[in-house]
Amino acid sequence: MHGKTAGWLNPMTDQDQNLAAIVNTTQGSYRVIVGRDVIDDLGFELKKTGLQGRAFLVADEVMFPNPTRRAQEALERGGYATHLLALEIGESNKNLETVQLVYDWLAELRADRGDIVVAMGGGVTGDLVGFAAATWLRGVAVVHVPTSLAAMVDSSIGGKTGVNIPNGKNLLGAFHQPKLVLQDVGHLDSLPAREMSAGWAEAVKHGIILDAQLLDTFERLAPQMRALEGDEPVDAIRKSVAIKGDIVSADEFETGDHRILLNYGHTIGHAIEKVSGYGTYLHGEAVAIGMMAAGKIAVQLGMIDTNLLNRQRAVLESYALPTRAVGLDVNEMIEATKSDKKSRGGTIRWVLLEGPGKATTRCDVPEELVREAIQSILD
Ligand SMILES: NC(=O)c1ccc[n+]([C@@H]2O[C@H](COP(=O)([O-])OP(=O)(O)OC[C@H]3O[C@@H](n4cnc5c(N)ncnc54)[C@H](O)[C@@H]3O)[C@@H](O)[C@H]2O)c1
Ligand SMILES: [Zn+2]
Repeated sequence: MHGKTAGWLNPMTDQDQNLAAIVNTTQGSYRVIVGRDVIDDLGFELKKTGLQGRAFLVADEVMFPNPTRRAQEALERGGYATHLLALEIGESNKNLETVQLVYDWLAELRADRGDIVVAMGGGVTGDLVGFAAATWLRGVAVVHVPTSLAAMVDSSIGGKTGVNIPNGKNLLGAFHQPKLVLQDVGHLDSLPAREMSAGWAEAVKHGIILDAQLLDTFERLAPQMRALEGDEPVDAIRKSVAIKGDIVSADEFETGDHRILLNYGHTIGHAIEKVSGYGTYLHGEAVAIGMMAAGKIAVQLGMIDTNLLNRQRAVLESYALPTRAVGLDVNEMIEATKSDKKSRGGTIRWVLLEGPGKATTRCDVPEELVREAIQSILD
């Protein structure tokens, strides 16, 4: 007999459909699974990766109690003994004190080298819990269950973990690749609309810099994407995840020419976050505006025409993203771009477009052009 009959499921085939990427790193390869209701497979998927030991689930409190319970039950069905810690985790307590709470809990329960830490929440949770896992007993296995769109398409993939210190954001950290990343698109149903838009900014960015077809899909299906209706949004998230996964596989430590492309819109985006005061704009919103400034630079350099810049504006606006930051001071903005973490020896390596789905880097952008581009997003 061929094909499926009613009620018969082939777990292998159905799981594989949800496989968005396999990320290859010096710390091993891992799968990124994206789908609806995949949280119920968490234990099964963990088992498939060959991990044993107890599962220490650390979750953003917003996911408590129902989603965390569902995750815990899935782990138990996979044969894992579990412990749950739900914490209020946000940018304001993304620090060592909160990491200490995780350490205390792991210590109390005598978590050992063979155990597994599961991080469930947005990017803050992933970074902080990933950092705790990277340092606990010099590193235990971590599994990411990102629940914000930004964390799904961006921060859960690539192994960057970290926390803030009073002197700056993400100054403490470690590369600690996960063993598995499992993304349940259903978790997005409770994500606030503004956070969704900020996540779409990074997802759309992946299309703009590397995949014209994905950009086209984001343009055509914006209302459907935003409503998370049907298969297309899940497919688009999977595609966006695959782009990030491929880049990490090609350039794990950002020493080559690949990973920097993800920084499109970020030089000016970071400056906007800094000058406006952190928290005024969500990161993805600032990146959307930053992409418009970078687009303007590319137009001025003759790399793209204004049609593409207008197209970029339209797609960002269709995801309810801002494209200008009225009222910020241009001089403060220029100073802030110069001190961006990604600039070396004062030279900024700009990520600029050459066409739809095609980005490159340039170090020779005159300050006058940068000023004009920044001015264009401030009016
Ligand atoms: N590691 C990396 O490569 C990387 C890359 C980009 C950003 N980051 C980090 O990621 C962080 C930002 O991530 P973020 O935007 O996910 O922020 P976040 O973790 O603060 O989540 C955003 C908000 O949404 C809430 N939330 C998350 N999932 C939810 C859900 N399913 N339902 C309802 N509410 C939910 C959170 O409680 C929070 O209030 C920053 O700290 C940044 O430094 C890391
Ligand atoms: Zn970003």
